[in-house]
Amino acid sequence: MSHEVVEKNTGVLIVLTLLVVSVAMLVEILPLFFLKETTTPVKGVQRYDALAIEGRDVYIREGCYNCHSQMIRPFRAETERYGHYSVAGESVYDHPFQWGSKRTGPDLARVGGRYSDDWHRAHLINPRDVVPESNMPAYPWLDKAVLDGRNTAAKMKALNIVTGATCPTCELYTDADMKNAETTVKGKTEMQAVIHYLQGLGLALKNN
Ligand code: HEC
Repeated sequence: MSHEVVEKNTGVLIVLTLLVVSVAMLVEILPLFFLKETTTPVKGVQRYDALAIEGRDVYIREGCYNCHSQMIRPFRAETERYGHYSVAGESVYDHPFQWGSKRTGPDLARVGGRYSDDWHRAHLINPRDVVPESNMPAYPWLDKAVLDGRNTAAKMKALNIVTGATCPTCELYTDADMKNAETTVKGKTEMQAVIHYLQGLGLALKNN
């Protein structure tokens, strides 16, 4: 009876739906902000250095996440191929996170150290040169685009705000980090930055 009232009355249905979704969100999402497991960095996980911040921004700008996840699921088929499954404490410095679920290409959560810098460079300039059957797009311009590092310190400042708010035990960027950011990054190519970022991915739990 009462169900019929809800189903025939859009207003009531909307209000009740919103209520259910809100309660579900409170129960499912809110605790994650306070669970130690999700707010404490895994041993060995470090904040991105100046060049990695820029590399990560290139990764996001170029939409690499459209084809690559950074989230190894806890299944044997995944762990045999990619290594230890991803855990929340590895992502505490990732704002925004790059987990994703779309895999046109392989997962990159632990790609750090899997190939040499030269391999990555050749691969990004033209994937077909190293993987003949690849359908990944080429990114030759990354090798020519030079970074000026003007905004790197500001990015650190912004990251400090989000990281500080979500992860009490995380290490924040110091004034010295911000002061040196521009000189560290200036003159490096976007290619160097994105490779540096890739080479650091997933190292903390790589060999477990
Ligand atoms: C249209 C989909 C697509 C996009 C966009 C894309 N990739 Fe790929 N990527 C692939 C495919 C498919 C492969 C597997 C074949 C190969 O190795 O080239 C791959 C492989 C890779 C590998 C080797 C992974 C491994 O474990 O062998 C790396 C590293 C990589 N991509 C990085 C990137 C980066 C960085 C970007 C952005 C600049 C990017 N990809 C954008 C599809 C894509």
